[in-house]
Amino acid sequence: MTSSNIEQINDLHDTDLEDLCQATEEAIIDGLGFEWLKSPGRGALERYWRGVLLVPERQLFAARLDQAIVGTAQLIMPTRSNESGAFDATLNAFFIRPWARGHGLARRLLNEVENAAKKQKIKQLSLVVRASQEAAIQLYESAGYSRWGIKPRYALVGRNYVSGYYYAKTLEKSRRRQRTTPSTKRV
Ligand SMILES: CC(C)(COP(=O)(O)OP(=O)(O)OC[C@H]1O[C@@H](n2cnc3c(N)ncnc32)[C@H](O)[C@@H]1OP(=O)(O)O)[C@@H](O)C(=O)NCCC(=O)NCCS
Repeated sequence: MTSSNIEQINDLHDTDLEDLCQATEEAIIDGLGFEWLKSPGRGALERYWRGVLLVPERQLFAARLDQAIVGTAQLIMPTRSNESGAFDATLNAFFIRPWARGHGLARRLLNEVENAAKKQKIKQLSLVVRASQEAAIQLYESAGYSRWGIKPRYALVGRNYVSGYYYAKTLEKSRRRQRTTPSTKRV
């Protein structure tokens, strides 16, 4: 029987690093290789993943099938100097390896990232997704993310620009509504 779980990754063992590099290469071939258009090579990929764990604002989450990492998501926390934006974190580099898709792992991974963000007092999760990523868009919209903007020239792939859709989700319970526009002071 296949076992699966979702977890935060704080240390990278050699087998995990190998899984992550292979998964990234698959994502690049799939047309969504983070910001890469072609593989930068194994050395650069290994440096990238080791670097992810060194950046204080980045938290790495992984989906495993039978121990192997088959998908990841990164929660990017606001920098400590960003006091006015301290409520807002970003979801980044979210993918499931093609052969592991369709088993609910992405939804579980997204839930885990949201729960981790809430525990760290984050009130809003933001993300951007290419307009071509239909499965991801379905997932985000069904999970309560609202599209608030479109950037027509988000990515340049070959000679074509691909639009980016900007989404955000409020993580706090709607017990009391927060103002989203500047208040006008009465005189
Ligand atoms: C988007 C992605 C992460 C979904 O992974 P997954 O493990 O197959 O997703 P799940 O099985 O957890 O399904 C969750 C939801 O995703 C949506 N979804 C998944 N596959 C879909 C498909 N082929 N078409 C439309 N919607 C789809 C559905 O809303 C689904 O919910 P449902 O099962 O209740 O209908 C995966 O397709 C992927 O890695 N895509 C490429 C990377 C990407 O686009 N990342 C987003 C960058 S911001």
